[in-house]
Amino acid sequence: MPQTQPPQVNYLRLSITDRCNLRCVYCLPGTEFEKLPSREILSYEEFLRLAGVAAAVGLRKIRVTGGEPLVRQGVVDFLRRLTRVPGVAKVCLTTNGVLLADLAGDIFAAGVRHLNLSLDTLDAGRYAALTGGDHLARVLTGLERALALGFQPLKLNCVVLKGINDQELVDLARLARHEPLEVRFIEFMPMGAPERWQAHFLPMAEVKARLAELGPLTAVAAGPTAGPAELWQPAGFKGRLGFISPVSSHHCPTCNRLRLTAAGKLKPCLFAATELDVKEPLRRGASDAELAHLLREAVRHKARRPERSSPPTPGMARPMRSLGG
Ligand code: 5AD
Ligand code: SF4
Repeated sequence: MPQTQPPQVNYLRLSITDRCNLRCVYCLPGTEFEKLPSREILSYEEFLRLAGVAAAVGLRKIRVTGGEPLVRQGVVDFLRRLTRVPGVAKVCLTTNGVLLADLAGDIFAAGVRHLNLSLDTLDAGRYAALTGGDHLARVLTGLERALALGFQPLKLNCVVLKGINDQELVDLARLARHEPLEVRFIEFMPMGAPERWQAHFLPMAEVKARLAELGPLTAVAAGPTAGPAELWQPAGFKGRLGFISPVSSHHCPTCNRLRLTAAGKLKPCLFAATELDVKEPLRRGASDAELAHLLREAVRHKARRPERSSPPTPGMARPMRSLGG
């Protein structure tokens, strides 16, 4: 028996597409990424049905991810319908922001309030090198729109890469000085090529050390939307900083999420091979009760933690492209 009760699994991430309009270096699998044929990807109807069943078994917070979710046709309408599924308490979105400037108003009107935006650098050339797309200005315009609309929480995800963006950590953190943002520094996880990870991994302790010039940091009690982030607020900041250390600290005991891939596989853990297929039952006309059983099965699987007793090692997981972060 576990000694402490694990947190209730109440959070489902839906990867609605494996397509993406960027090619971030930390996400590249090392070999060419094979796209799923469209028919293999769950339809919006299928996602909505699963969301309803998930909410009924207690997974009431849903995050929509990708690939890049905003590249999928009809995504805004999907988000609107998702926020109205009975039992769904919160709909969050993770985006790389390339299409955000155009869509932010509609996404807000659809009822989404929680937004995570990937932003690893404020230098246009570095952004292009890191993501394969010359879109920094568009992303920053998207961020401005999102701030003006009042998304809250609004979080910036910054994957720290030694020798690539680690000279910018203070500048990135300062984005939270005058705005109610959470700038979250994330340790580079070894998803793709091992050499890349070995060359560019920077431990979170080092990230914090480099932020010392911001002055004293006060710990902020983690609220219900904090996720795995450790939160700090530098003196005089309106926003705050989050530190996410999937590699150097062990998150499994507090992890409260399940993932559903675009191809309809439920994954209880990012770093474990276990997957439960929900597409086959969905498409052969399974009842809600049968789908609920599958979801409970995944929750139970997760309760048998820890999934992982040591830090992730290179090659352990699939690229985020197929998992949705
Ligand atoms: N390490 C850490 N975070 C990653 N993401 C994608 N790949 C990695 C990785 N190897 C995260 C980024 C991005 C989100 C979609 O997934 O934070 O913003
Ligand atoms: Fe696309 Fe996100 Fe992967 Fe970057 S990290 S390539 S934005 S899916």
